[in-house]
Amino acid sequence: MAGSIRNEIGELKKKRNAVILAHNYQIPEVQDIADYVGDSLGLARKAAKTDADVIVFCGVMFMAETAKILSPEKKVLIPDPHAGCPLAAMSSVQAVRKLRNENPGVPVVAYVNTDAEVKAIADICCTSSNMEEVVNFLDSGKVIFVPDRNMADYIRKRTGKQVITAAGYCPTHQKIFPEHVAMQKKLHPGAKVLAHPECLPAVISMADAVTSTGGMVSYAKESPADEFIIATEKEMAYRLSREIPGKKFYPASGTAVCPNMKKTDLSKVLLALREMRHEVNVPEDVRKKALISIERMLELS
Ligand code: 13P
Repeated sequence: MAGSIRNEIGELKKKRNAVILAHNYQIPEVQDIADYVGDSLGLARKAAKTDADVIVFCGVMFMAETAKILSPEKKVLIPDPHAGCPLAAMSSVQAVRKLRNENPGVPVVAYVNTDAEVKAIADICCTSSNMEEVVNFLDSGKVIFVPDRNMADYIRKRTGKQVITAAGYCPTHQKIFPEHVAMQKKLHPGAKVLAHPECLPAVISMADAVTSTGGMVSYAKESPADEFIIATEKEMAYRLSREIPGKKFYPASGTAVCPNMKKTDLSKVLLALREMRHEVNVPEDVRKKALISIERMLELS
């Protein structure tokens, strides 16, 4: 059954000249049929460069929107249009305007986990791969960063700049506690701890490396260590094991599951391609403004 779905997806991909992009948190079956699996920055780069006519985006809505902003002439399909991001939903145009009014002249950095409308009123975007680079680049000792408070705290510590933020957080990363990491450390004393910057500060302080999901792949490849505790969404361990089969990866907590990333499965990918359904569109005025923030980031990193 799964074999025939995979075959039909393969045939439709050719017929539609489509590319399948998948985030590192997608279920294994979806990662396995994707043309490219990566983090937010890698996926944005692929979406900008592809010469396919159709992008099937297996991730969450802000990622598919970013692909559409970068490649407006392409059809971008999301297999499940209800795959949102609660962190992105924690910022709004009104909240950013309020922060701007309270802090005149202070540049606004929008994490890529935001709606297109928020990116459109920001000065620059960033992802978990380039947040420090972006904040250090800005000629200001003070920045507004939305929406993730854990990441804001990490950026403040790394850059020494004043970081004004909202109270957003990722509910999935918020479920990883220092006790989980400590327990895994007890079980695997030689393992290195890799943490996503959306984790709680107490988890980040236990990490050997704090990096994006793509950064975790590079770190684990280059590291002499052969065991790693992964403090991010649990499927990341699958992505790492697939890419680096000789090493061992232990999710810090089995409860760190992003329900939105799990909404995509092979049958929804097939239906999206067969019926060209769930097309992602961004109003042109918003798209053009959001593009400026995203391109500034891409030029930098
Ligand atoms: P990455 O860009 O590191 O893959 O992070 C994406 C994300 O949404 C984390 O919650």
